Amino acid sequence: MEQELQQLEKRAKETLATLQDNSQLEDFRIEYLGRKGKFSTIMRNLGNVAKEDRPRVGQLANTIKQEIESLFEEKKLNLDQTGAKGETGDIDLTLPGRRPALGRLHPVTQIMNEVCQVFENMGFAIAEGPDVETDHYNFAALNIPEHHPARDMHDTFYISESILLRTHTSNMQARIMEKQDPPLRVIAPGKVYRCDSDITHTPMFHQVEGFLVDKKVSFADLKGVLTVFTQKVFEEDLALRFRPSFFPFTEPSAEVDIACVICKGEGCRVCKYTGWLEILGCGMIDPEVFKMVGYDPEEYSGFAFGLGVERIAMLKYGIDDIRLYYENDLRFLSQF
Ligand code: FA5
Repeated sequence: MEQELQQLEKRAKETLATLQDNSQLEDFRIEYLGRKGKFSTIMRNLGNVAKEDRPRVGQLANTIKQEIESLFEEKKLNLDQTGAKGETGDIDLTLPGRRPALGRLHPVTQIMNEVCQVFENMGFAIAEGPDVETDHYNFAALNIPEHHPARDMHDTFYISESILLRTHTSNMQARIMEKQDPPLRVIAPGKVYRCDSDITHTPMFHQVEGFLVDKKVSFADLKGVLTVFTQKVFEEDLALRFRPSFFPFTEPSAEVDIACVICKGEGCRVCKYTGWLEILGCGMIDPEVFKMVGYDPEEYSGFAFGLGVERIAMLKYGIDDIRLYYENDLRFLSQF
């Protein structure tokens, strides 16, 4: 049996020296060191050895097994390390790493921040209000009483008879004015909702409302502020067009178009072949709105505007379908 043990030791050492990877190592462990392996079989046969020789042979078997076990552990460690260096094994740490996908601000958020910054630099304070709004602040306080045809201008999502998703950020006009006395200069950025969808309309979009109330404010002040705004945001002298319009809460009212940046005024599907794209509605605040919040229209005047942030983003980045902003296609979004 002693001879058998010595032969087994020799074979085990020779085999260990030839092992190349973890799977061969595992086969070796099962064949030599496992419960049904060669060493266990020899140990089980110790009973056949003469009684007086048994302690010596048993001790020899244990010593050889322990030596093979420690050589096995050493080989395992060695293989792990060489594998890690990329010479063999499963993991090659010399390969270039995979970059984790980093998040970034949505292009509409980027433009929103930029727009707010431009107005903040002109001295406007920022106010935020609720998306879920009462009929009162969204309509009635803006001189749009119940059953007024002007309500049809907004395709409103109603939650109940008197609660709705705000259709514009103009809801913030009365909310602020009833709390603060003039002079005031405020912008109110936020999400608004309308049942509307095509290449220049989405059911949820962003507006930035702006209003300024003081003594002797004129339409020229409004034009000045909006002209500076477009120059700053587009970093060029773009043509602006003030088109007479109607809003129940401003008088006179206008819609402002900007020369279509996509076709340079030539006409394309975004500007509906007019060369212009509407970016905002504005006007001088109607005396009726002032009366409702307790301002004296004889003493104060003011202007207000509400601009569409996605429209600005379309023009700035040359995007010809507003819905792309909300399809969440990373190939599109990661370009900004
Ligand atoms: C209003 O919402 C008025 N509250 C603006 C206003 C404020 C007028 C203060 C006077 C004084 P209008 O419905 O035109 O107006 O919308 C304003 C801007 O929002 C539009 O010029 C356009 O740029 C953008 N807009 C309107 N509907 C959508 C839509 N469905 N998707 C994307 N942008 C839109």
